[in-house]
Amino acid sequence: MKIGIIGTGFVGLSFAAALGSKGYQVLAIDSDLDKVKKINTGNPPFYEPKLSTLLKEALKKGLEVSSDIEQAVKTSDLIFITVGTPTTSEGKINLKSLKGVAAEIGQILAHSKNKPVIVIKSTVVPETNRAIKEIIEKESKKKSGKDFGIISNPEFLREGRAVDDTFNPHIVVIGGEDSKTINKVKKFYEGFYKNVPYITTNTQTAEMIKYANNSFLATKISFINQIANICQSIPGTNVDDVAKAIGIDPRIGKQFLKAGPGYGGSCLPKDLRALISFSENFGQDPTLLKAVQKTNTQQVENLISFMTKILTRFEGKKISILGLSFKEDSDDIRESVSINLIKKLLKHKAKIVAHDPMAIENTRKIIGDKISYTKSIDEALKDSECAVIMTPWKLYSKLNNKDLKLMKNKIIVDTRRLLIKKKLDAKYYATGLGLK
Ligand code: UGA
Repeated sequence: MKIGIIGTGFVGLSFAAALGSKGYQVLAIDSDLDKVKKINTGNPPFYEPKLSTLLKEALKKGLEVSSDIEQAVKTSDLIFITVGTPTTSEGKINLKSLKGVAAEIGQILAHSKNKPVIVIKSTVVPETNRAIKEIIEKESKKKSGKDFGIISNPEFLREGRAVDDTFNPHIVVIGGEDSKTINKVKKFYEGFYKNVPYITTNTQTAEMIKYANNSFLATKISFINQIANICQSIPGTNVDDVAKAIGIDPRIGKQFLKAGPGYGGSCLPKDLRALISFSENFGQDPTLLKAVQKTNTQQVENLISFMTKILTRFEGKKISILGLSFKEDSDDIRESVSINLIKKLLKHKAKIVAHDPMAIENTRKIIGDKISYTKSIDEALKDSECAVIMTPWKLYSKLNNKDLKLMKNKIIVDTRRLLIKKKLDAKYYATGLGLK
């Protein structure tokens, strides 16, 4: 079976590398020639643990990477589309890349005998698969179900864990219009995965599952963040103990209850926006989703207020920001709360020194030389008047009194409570704890 994968972002490249490493014949396509060149040297265009090693292995076995979409469409049995679906400035989903790829596929199919199944992994609002099918039918003058198949197959992998999640997904959702096409995709997955629950539905339900999933995760985070904010007003209360206890209730579950500065990244904020805008089109008022979003965007303001109480003012003070990426084990700063905090502190005329093991280059592209950057913890803390832990990188939980000695004022603001159990010779303020 030949596999085509169009789009080499986190989802596409991890999937291509995973399949390729197991000997599947995979042709991964990206229109960005620089990206293709880099991937062919075994280097992913972004940081993702384990991906580089896996990619190198895949390139030696079954993976080819190019910009030749024609070859992929003419030769693949399954064509996975994994292009980005960002949001427009009005918060709607932007389907430009996806529709462009669909039109190209249709034009190629018009002159090909191949009858591939097109599997849409990109996150798309309900009924997008139907629109994509219509584009392909129009451009190819062929019929879905007879000359090609169309499947919605949302992806649930997390950045920072993309490789592990690709090999061990918690679910495979296959949405289709006819059982023959659904079974073809299911059979392919059954060859790759053992012991994974399958859910088969129609395409629009599969599309909706993805949004419901991400919205629920966002809801859990905003919920615990709100509880954390309330805890801060009750002396001695600890949000992590609250989360641990409620998480034991199987109806709640323990994951995604880590209070912090708010969720970021390229998925949860964008998917919430898209689902809100999508529901409003139908005259629905998604009050809960809006509240989740509002709670999240307010979290950075809450952090500023929290810091103001501690530092009184920011002007001229050297503040160390520890962590720039939206989550640990990633160099991705898209919608990172840390970047948002930096922008706000700059408005207050603070002097920022930023530390991150991986995300400095991406941050520099956005913030430029308005702040200083370092990969050395010592340098980040030297003469600092306050260090703010933003991203839960493991190395920040190793901070000790020797490191803190370098600070001018030993004040730690810990938005992830990484250092809560340490005896620190510092003024330690963690969000989510009731100040005694
Ligand atoms: C998210 C989903 O978790 C994936 O299942 C989904 O496939 C992906 O979006 C997507 O749609 O592509 P991701 O954005 O990579 O994955 O990262 P998460 O682990 O969900 O973290 C998102 C944000 O929430 C981060 O800023 C993280 O720090 C924050 N978070 C997460 C918390 O503040 N508390 C938690 O308990 C969990």
